Amino acid sequence: MPIAVHPSGRAAGAEITGCNLATDLDDANFAVIQDALDEHGVIYLRNQTLTPDQQVAFTERFGEPDVNFNALRFGVDGSPTIYRISNITENGEAIGTRRAGETWHTDMSYAKHPALATMLYAVEVPTLHGMPLGGTGFANAAAAYDALPQDLKDAITSLKGVFDFRGRKRSSPVSAEDIAAYPPVEHPIVRTHPRTGRKGLYIVRDDTTGIVGKDADESQALIEALADHVIKPEFIYQHIWQQGDVVVWDNCTVQHRAVQDYGLPQRRLLWRTTVKGGAPY
Ligand code: SIN
Repeated sequence: MPIAVHPSGRAAGAEITGCNLATDLDDANFAVIQDALDEHGVIYLRNQTLTPDQQVAFTERFGEPDVNFNALRFGVDGSPTIYRISNITENGEAIGTRRAGETWHTDMSYAKHPALATMLYAVEVPTLHGMPLGGTGFANAAAAYDALPQDLKDAITSLKGVFDFRGRKRSSPVSAEDIAAYPPVEHPIVRTHPRTGRKGLYIVRDDTTGIVGKDADESQALIEALADHVIKPEFIYQHIWQQGDVVVWDNCTVQHRAVQDYGLPQRRLLWRTTVKGGAPY
């Protein structure tokens, strides 16, 4: 079966079929995957079987893998670029970050160079009598921008937001070094996609702590209005995980949130990699 792209029918997301990532990742197949990611913001492939090295190799097709601070603690086989998201404990110790990403966000917006893309591979998926739990929601921030009235687009087009690592409550312990590594940064709240040129909203409750040139009240009102607009139901694709899924998302186009509707003995284990990005513009 040749590779094919099946849009989810929602504002984001497309399934890719006809490609075994362990054996079929030639340039032609990768070009189809990259184009689908550019167009839909999120792509997923079912029934994959990957080793950590194969996941890192697939990640490298999109760009240089990033080192996440969580990988230093939860790296798969000690790797700094692939780490575990999990609620599982072994010998009383967590094997991965728990409750990772439970509020809407876009990865590493607190960094000068936020992650371009993120990839998750589902090793174990929690279920309730056969019903999958622990889904991931994706909100298309470019579609949300398109839907704004022109007046509002004009009013926000050159505004910058302040993004602060300390803004969001984190699921795993954060060290003083992590905080020192990420001083507050400013990014445009209307971001241009580096590959497609499409504009999208880049603003999140918690991570965006202010708007440059606006006082605290005005900033907060704008952040809340725009951040809540992005996550309206019409912009959302909800991924229901199956074991063996590989999901890749574009952090310029979509925001995401992990649904925390499960608990042990329902086990969730995902391997996570990220791709380095440039400064937003
Ligand atoms: C994340 O924010 O990267 C975690 C998403 C998930 O666990 O579904």
